[in-house]
Amino acid sequence: MAQNKNPGKVKAERLDKILAQLLDISRSDASALIKAGRISVNEEPALKAQDKVLPHDLIYLDEELIEAASAASQRRVLMLNKPAGCVCADKDKLHPTVHNYLTDVPHRDELHCAGRLDLDACGLLIITDDGALIHEITAPKKQVAKTYLVRTDVPIPENAKTLLERGVKHPEERERYRPAQFLSLGEKEALVRVTEGRFHEVKRMFEVLGCSVVYLERRSIGRLTLPEDLKAGAFRALSEDEVSLLFESPEPL
Ligand code: URA
Repeated sequence: MAQNKNPGKVKAERLDKILAQLLDISRSDASALIKAGRISVNEEPALKAQDKVLPHDLIYLDEELIEAASAASQRRVLMLNKPAGCVCADKDKLHPTVHNYLTDVPHRDELHCAGRLDLDACGLLIITDDGALIHEITAPKKQVAKTYLVRTDVPIPENAKTLLERGVKHPEERERYRPAQFLSLGEKEALVRVTEGRFHEVKRMFEVLGCSVVYLERRSIGRLTLPEDLKAGAFRALSEDEVSLLFESPEPL
């Protein structure tokens, strides 16, 4: 269950109180749901009504995520143009983290990446303190479209589109990748759109095609595209309308 490591910064609240707010039920009904074993927090069963939860904790009823409606009004959602050479982690011993770029943002420790871009990858990264939003963007079953600009070391084979649209199988993956969209931009350059977000997904897909990815940039998530005037390393807050664009289907490539 959540430990409030930053008293005075992030407010931990009793689980029954938050459940009552989210589900619009009484606290005793909320407590009954907990006792019946129907509530879990961050995928662990909740045990007591007085357990404490933090704003980014994910609360489930019968394994369905309860939308953090109250968090939506207070949440912070940023987009960063992630430069290559930093990691999507809260802390790292070897490399700078994306948090290093969030200069002057209060309580940076409450913000987390919605999915990861590799150390050498760059582009659109959403950073937020809303755990439910992170789940919505990253859970494979939500199928949020992520579009990447890819450059390769050798020419991309002519059958790349056919193979990627069918879904390729990488030797280190148990399952085939879901069908991806592909648009050639040149011999060694393409746009590719995926909806899963597995580890090194795009690099591995191109490995199957016999190419190494030498440049990888996330251009868009859903219909939200990295603005041209947002320089590498720069960030800004998203409006709620822009957040909605993350979940809209883009035009086919
Ligand atoms: N696919 C990759 O291989 N790397 C990323 O960083 C993102 C998608």
